[in-house]
Amino acid sequence: MLINKQEIQKAQTSLNQWYTRHGRFSLPWRQTNEIYPIYISEIMLQQTQVNRVQEYYYPLFLERYPTIKELANCKLDDLLATWSGLGYYSRARNLHKAAQICAKEGFPSSPKEFMKLPGIGRYTASAICSFALNQNISVVDTNIARVLKRLFALRDPKDAIIWEYADSFLNHQNPKEHNLALMDLGSLICTPKEPKCKECPLEQFCKGKENPTHYTQSKKVKYEHLELFLGVLVKGGKLALVKSKERLYHSLLTLPHTDPIEENFIGKFKHSYTKYRIDVNLYKIEECSEEIIWYELSEIENAPIASLTKKALQFL
Ligand code: ADE
Repeated sequence: MLINKQEIQKAQTSLNQWYTRHGRFSLPWRQTNEIYPIYISEIMLQQTQVNRVQEYYYPLFLERYPTIKELANCKLDDLLATWSGLGYYSRARNLHKAAQICAKEGFPSSPKEFMKLPGIGRYTASAICSFALNQNISVVDTNIARVLKRLFALRDPKDAIIWEYADSFLNHQNPKEHNLALMDLGSLICTPKEPKCKECPLEQFCKGKENPTHYTQSKKVKYEHLELFLGVLVKGGKLALVKSKERLYHSLLTLPHTDPIEENFIGKFKHSYTKYRIDVNLYKIEECSEEIIWYELSEIENAPIASLTKKALQFL
């Protein structure tokens, strides 16, 4: 064991007291114990910032699909349109498939069962079972992993090791609050750069406090550069879109590809998406060899299009 039992208890109490005063209780998905909205929030929060989810996507989603049945029965294109701008569209496709399973069979009741659903890994499965079902289990997301690595001075540990530490630090009296407290501590105090150790309730127990960033040096992300040549074709107030075949935006609607013909050049812009850094070049076109789906320009806001396409439309 890492630190003795008494110290663990003291650290848990200190964390719990801090959470009572500083926890982010007003987050909308913390106002409910229902599985469905908690599930939706966890999928959205996987790669999107809390503010964007809280202010826009989470309320919009629950208004359009208030129950798992409505989500299961919606058209994938409508769901992708609702997801438009959130990125990582495989999340929406998996959510749709998972909703069809849960609407028929009911929600699973353990992390192991949740992990059989498409798009649900160990973190999401545990988060749902902790936050909705109040199960006595630990949760590890990137914020919690950072806190634990510093607290126990773990350099480059395998994921399984971090989960073991999370289990041994779990407060069995109030596991849900303990998990949320660690999450908030990672987000508000034990931040990747310049952590606020002086304000941290775990400082006196922390083995990594002398050099916190030593334990959490971020791996350099390798970016890939892409250049796209896209065509703009408008007729009678309608815009030509095509179903993307690229893995990046699979089955979303995008502008058609074209050859770069200098005299038809409209403009260019840069766009970032996941690990891609994309240079987008726009050209006026008269025809298109791919199958066109005509979209009223006035309705484009409701189309299943990615941010890249939305940005391109600002040129029109
Ligand atoms: N509360 C519950 N789950 C959360 C998450 N993934 N991010 C931020 N706050 C949360």
